[in-house]
Amino acid sequence: MFSTLVSRAAAALLVGGAAVQALQVDLTSAQSIKDTAATIAYDMMTYYKGNQSGGIIGVLPGPPPNPSWGYYWWESGAMWGTLIDYWHYTGDTSYNDVAEAGIQWQVGEHDDMMPSNWSQSMGNDDQGFWGMTAMSAAETNFQNPASGQPSWLSLAQAVFNTQAVRPDNTCGGGLRWQVYPYLTGYDYKNSIANGCFFNLGARLARYTGNDTYAQHAEKTWDWIQTVGLMDENYNIYDGAHIETNCTDINLVQFSYNMGVWLLGAANMYNYTNGSAIWENRVNLLLNSTFNTFFPGDIAYEVACEPKLTCTTDMFSFKAYLTRWLAATTFVAPWTRDLIMPKLQASAKAAAAQCVGGATGRACGLSWSKAPAYDGTYGVGQQMAAMSAVFVNLLPLQAVGSPLTNSTGGTSVGNPNAGSQSVANPEALKPATEGDRVGAGVLTTLVLVGATGMFGWMSL
Ligand SMILES: *[C@@H]1O[C@H](CO)[C@@H](O)[C@H](O)[C@H]1NC(C)=O
Ligand SMILES: *[C@@H]1O[C@H](CO)[C@@H](O)[C@H](O)[C@H]1NC(C)=O
Ligand SMILES: *[C@@H]1O[C@H](CO)[C@@H](O)[C@H](O)[C@H]1NC(C)=O
Ligand SMILES: *[C@@H]1O[C@H](CO)[C@@H](O)[C@H](O)[C@H]1NC(C)=O
Ligand SMILES: *[C@@H]1O[C@H](CO)[C@@H](O)[C@H](O)[C@H]1NC(C)=O
Ligand SMILES: *[C@@H]1O[C@H](CO)[C@@H](O)[C@H](O)[C@H]1NC(C)=O
Ligand SMILES: *[C@@H]1O[C@H](CO)[C@@H](O)[C@H](O)[C@H]1NC(C)=O
Ligand SMILES: *[C@@H]1O[C@H](CO)[C@@H](O)[C@H](O)[C@H]1NC(C)=O
Repeated sequence: MFSTLVSRAAAALLVGGAAVQALQVDLTSAQSIKDTAATIAYDMMTYYKGNQSGGIIGVLPGPPPNPSWGYYWWESGAMWGTLIDYWHYTGDTSYNDVAEAGIQWQVGEHDDMMPSNWSQSMGNDDQGFWGMTAMSAAETNFQNPASGQPSWLSLAQAVFNTQAVRPDNTCGGGLRWQVYPYLTGYDYKNSIANGCFFNLGARLARYTGNDTYAQHAEKTWDWIQTVGLMDENYNIYDGAHIETNCTDINLVQFSYNMGVWLLGAANMYNYTNGSAIWENRVNLLLNSTFNTFFPGDIAYEVACEPKLTCTTDMFSFKAYLTRWLAATTFVAPWTRDLIMPKLQASAKAAAAQCVGGATGRACGLSWSKAPAYDGTYGVGQQMAAMSAVFVNLLPLQAVGSPLTNSTGGTSVGNPNAGSQSVANPEALKPATEGDRVGAGVLTTLVLVGATGMFGWMSL
């Protein structure tokens, strides 16, 4: 309470000579939405040091131990995808060149979004997030890279193709969390890794018209229901271990799982020209999403928001939830009237609590406590608040539907992309114990384990 008063008071003071106020967004004004999103985006990009001496192009600083705080590789890919959508909705091209350069720097030695630098933390979900970013670039006709560089569509196809051969027979199918056998989490099969693959398959099917992608997506959907990671009420749980044939289901629920499966299902609905099966699945997923993640109509990260126990990763999940809900409204048009009220309430709340930090306008996570600021800050919080805001341009101005090969998409694909991909022999060296401890963590709760902060949810 005290700190809340302090930060709100600080927000009203002069910072750096300029009057600082909470970001009050007027959702009836396209200009207000654009101005607010631009401010939040600008502040988000102050975290990016890829252009500076010592920085690596395309990635945010981190992860630990160098520096002692920081971001895993996947989140940078997610950030470029958010900036592509930001441009698509607002028309602001400020970050297009830096996004293009950032993605292209990270495509990897075999143009498959698996650069060897990051082989100590390469999950299928991590690769999948970069693949979905490339897919968004193709669907929006984001500026095409120079010839000689891999096209957006071919990058998405490469991620899909490399992953399509990875499911094994443990747990009756499905992708493992991690790509390489030496990584902690290789024995875990989870909803986000499979959700990214499903999402990409559905969108590639719609974009290219190639049914092979849809068949893999169907199979992935069937698997997640059979194994029980998605239950009969369309709750989606984090994952389970192959040692138990995936019966030790970790019941924690994260909002990005709802978003990634919902948008995939909506694309399957669209690809099948409106099948009743996929329509039903979209409706049930949407209902489950609203029930669990939108108390009071405001997006809420139920697993960690109540006590602010979110990891760096988790602080960003509402960015994908809000963006993918908005994307769903293009391909499953009847959902727009259901989804927009939630995005409106979320945007108002999200902007109103951006009153923190030295700028007096840093965004926290606790939107439903607005105008109180929760004291947290970072790329995830900025990305989430900005996404909630810019998607509200939808009712006010024309925003183009995701394109396809036959409706003007210009990214030229390569169905065989990723076939040069090899498991990097260097990377396959057994990791040291130190490497294992530092191994990539998307949903870090696996490492936090039974005694950690999420332990109570794991059975
Ligand atoms: C960062 O790099 C991109 C791509 O090379 C360039 O367009 C942009 O202007 C650079 N930004 C800064 C701040 O140097
Ligand atoms: C890999 O790491 C080196 C050394 O830090 C850096 O120069 C290079 O840009 C990195 N490449 C990628 C793709 O991250
Ligand atoms: C393992 O799990 C899969 C998926 O739920 C199931 O189809 C299969 O029968 C299980 N195998 C055994 C041996 O229990
Ligand atoms: C959807 O409709 C189009 C146009 O009638 C048709 O060419 C296409 O095969 C249909 N797609 C599916 C998956 O049925
Ligand atoms: C949606 O969720 C509500 C609340 O749990 C439930 O009462 C309702 O039956 C659900 N609707 C559908 C179509 O499942
Ligand atoms: C598929 O998406 C397009 C583009 O948004 C939309 O115009 C069309 O109505 C959708 N198809 C169905 C069956 O809803
Ligand atoms: C669309 O797909 C067809 C068939 O795969 C291909 O020949 C054509 O080049 C594609 N168009 C674009 C713009 O990539
Ligand atoms: C469809 O996609 C599959 C899987 O990537 C690929 O093997 C096949 O060549 C593609 N078909 C066409 C006509 O592009």
